[in-house]
Amino acid sequence: IAALPKAELHLHIEGSLEPEMMFALAQRNGLKLAFDSVEAIRAAYEFSNLQDFLDIYYQGMAVLLTEQDFFDLTAAYLHRAAADGVRHVEIFFDPQGHTARGVPFANVVGGIARALAEAEQRGITSRLIMCFLRHLSEAEAEATLDEALPFLALIHGVGLDSSEVGHPPEKFARVFARARGLGLKIVAHAGEEGPPAYVWQALDVLGVDRIDHGNRALEDDALVSRIVADNLTLTVCPLSNLKLCVVRDIAAHPLRRMLAAGLRATVNSDDPAYFGGY
Ligand code: HPA
Ligand code: ZN
Repeated sequence: IAALPKAELHLHIEGSLEPEMMFALAQRNGLKLAFDSVEAIRAAYEFSNLQDFLDIYYQGMAVLLTEQDFFDLTAAYLHRAAADGVRHVEIFFDPQGHTARGVPFANVVGGIARALAEAEQRGITSRLIMCFLRHLSEAEAEATLDEALPFLALIHGVGLDSSEVGHPPEKFARVFARARGLGLKIVAHAGEEGPPAYVWQALDVLGVDRIDHGNRALEDDALVSRIVADNLTLTVCPLSNLKLCVVRDIAAHPLRRMLAAGLRATVNSDDPAYFGGY
């Protein structure tokens, strides 16, 4: 398995920020972390649900300021992924986690894209997917899409992440329709913690090309049949599901059931600095 060539289709680049780099970037940018050692940071990575993780994830990414920071983050991930046999990677980024702190959009997309271009020279192909934070408003997602317009040559698709329950896909119907009109691919996190209805909305309202997670689709046979009929891929993240208590233990993970049901379930990392794996 270690030697097999791999594709990574569900990876939040901010979720690859290892504690060591968090410290190095904090120091470089003159910031003080809430933790005083790498061990203390790692010890804080005990989550009982998605929101527990997100609170720490947004706190961690606050060390990312400059174009060089985003380059270093992405380059470190790509070197590690290459060592694991990854040949193709589709990377999510969360611009609103940065622009809300005053970081220019260009620093974010510029640094990430420069690292992806460099990795391409070493034979790793890639795509970039811009995610909207679903706990924020659709108007804020629209403003983010506006900011992305000058960079669309670097961005292949748009996605939807952050706190799922209470923020159904239909909240973002208009902005995803506009993104589709711009020629962008559409994906969305759905059915990680949210109900099957959210997966239906991802399909019928957003018109997704792929479903991120999708675990709870298994609760609805008609939904499973629809996903199979549409030949849609699920980007499943078993270690994330374990760490965020979506599953009780890894042996109880539904990956095998997904495959048996005819779903195109793939195995991915999500946020490997926080959940382990890669
Ligand atoms: N779910 C939702 N939002 C996220 C995740 C996730 O697994 N990782 C980073 N942002
Ligand atoms: Zn994710």
